[in-house]
Amino acid sequence: MNQKKIIAVIDGDGIGPEVIAQSIKVLNAIAHRFQYNFEYNHALMGAVAIDETGNPLPQKTIDVCMASDAILFGAIGHPKYDNDPSAKVRPEQGLLGLRKALELYANIRPVTAYTALHHLSPLKISNIDGVDLVIYRELTGGIYFGKKEINETKTIAIDECKYSKEEIVRISHLAFSAAQKRRKKITLIDKANVLETSRLWRLIVKEIALEYEDVELDFLFVDNAAMQIILNPKQFDVILTENMFGDIISDEASVIAGSLGMLPSASLGNKYALFEPIHGSYPQAAGKDIANPIGSILSTAMMLDYFNMNEAATLIREATEWAIANSYVTKDIDPVNFYFTSTIGDIISEYICSAEHGIVNIDNILLRKSTVI
Ligand code: IPM
Ligand code: MG
Repeated sequence: MNQKKIIAVIDGDGIGPEVIAQSIKVLNAIAHRFQYNFEYNHALMGAVAIDETGNPLPQKTIDVCMASDAILFGAIGHPKYDNDPSAKVRPEQGLLGLRKALELYANIRPVTAYTALHHLSPLKISNIDGVDLVIYRELTGGIYFGKKEINETKTIAIDECKYSKEEIVRISHLAFSAAQKRRKKITLIDKANVLETSRLWRLIVKEIALEYEDVELDFLFVDNAAMQIILNPKQFDVILTENMFGDIISDEASVIAGSLGMLPSASLGNKYALFEPIHGSYPQAAGKDIANPIGSILSTAMMLDYFNMNEAATLIREATEWAIANSYVTKDIDPVNFYFTSTIGDIISEYICSAEHGIVNIDNILLRKSTVI
C-alpha cells in the first residue's frame, strides 16, 4: 500500500476553515501514529473564491483536485447571495461544478444515533436508540443539473429533471454492495406515483436487485418517507434516492443524530473522491471557534476508509465517540458546558496520539474549557 497521499484541501466559506483545521490536526495525529505521509494542497472554492477571482470554482482548483488522491472540503455559502435571486454568480455553483467536473455521482451519508446525544433529538429516545442507516444520494443528475430557464418577463421558470439509465445503474450498484455488507435492506425513495424519472428509477433498480438476491428491496414515496424517517427510522438500512430527495431527506435524518454538525459524507466517482460534513457554512458562527468539527473529522475517517487505512479510520471514530461520551462537545451539543472547536480538535488528536496506553493526557487542553456563566 502506498502510505503517501496527496489531499486537496478546500476550506470554503463560513465555518469551513475552522472545521477543516481540526480535520488536518486529526490527520496529522494519524500520520504521526501510523507513519503515514499526508501532503495537503489548498485550493479556493465558493464565496471566498468569488471574492478573490470572480469565479466560485477557479480552474486551478479543479486541477489541484484532479492531481490529488482525495479532496477534503469544508462548507459553502454566504448570506449575501442567499437573498439575492438576481445574483448571476453564486458560491454553491462552485460545489455543484466540482461534483460535475469530477463526476462524483454517489453521495454517501451515514446517520448514527449516539447514546450520549439521544436527549438532543426532538424524537423519542426509544425510536432513535440503535438507528444506523446510510443514505446513497445520486449527486450529479436530476433537477440540480437539468436545463434551467426563466422567461424575459420573469414570470415563468423551468427546472428540468432528467435521469439516464446509466446514471441510475452506477449508484445503485454501490448501494446494493453496501447493503450486502450491512443489514441487507434497500429502500428506494422516489415519487413514482407522479414523476416519470421516478418510474425509470423503479424499473432499473428492480432489474439490478435481481443481481443481489440476498438484499431485500422496498419502495417508499418521498412524502411518506419523510414521515417514516421521523416516526420509525430503525426500519431503514440503506436508503437509495435521487439528488433532490437525497438532499432533503439527509438534513431531515440529521435530527436523529442530535445535531447537523455530527454528520459526515463521502462523494464518490470512479476516479475521484471528496469528503465533507453535511452541514452548511453556518455564517453566524464563523470565526467564533464554536462550530462542531465532528462532521468534518468523521469525514476524514471516511476518507481513510477510502484509502484502505481502516485501522486509522476506526481509531478516529473511537476517539470521536470517546469525546462525545465524555462530554467533550461543542456549543450546539451543550450550550452551557461547551468546548471550543479548536479544543475538540486538540482532544481528539491527543486521544489518537496517546490512546495506546489507554490513558489520554488532556489536562492542559482542558484548561481551555469554556463555561458560560
Ligand atoms: C448539500 C448541500 C448542497 C446541495 C448545496 C450547498 C448546493 O445542501 O451538499 O447537501 O444542495 O447539494
Ligand atoms: Mg443539503
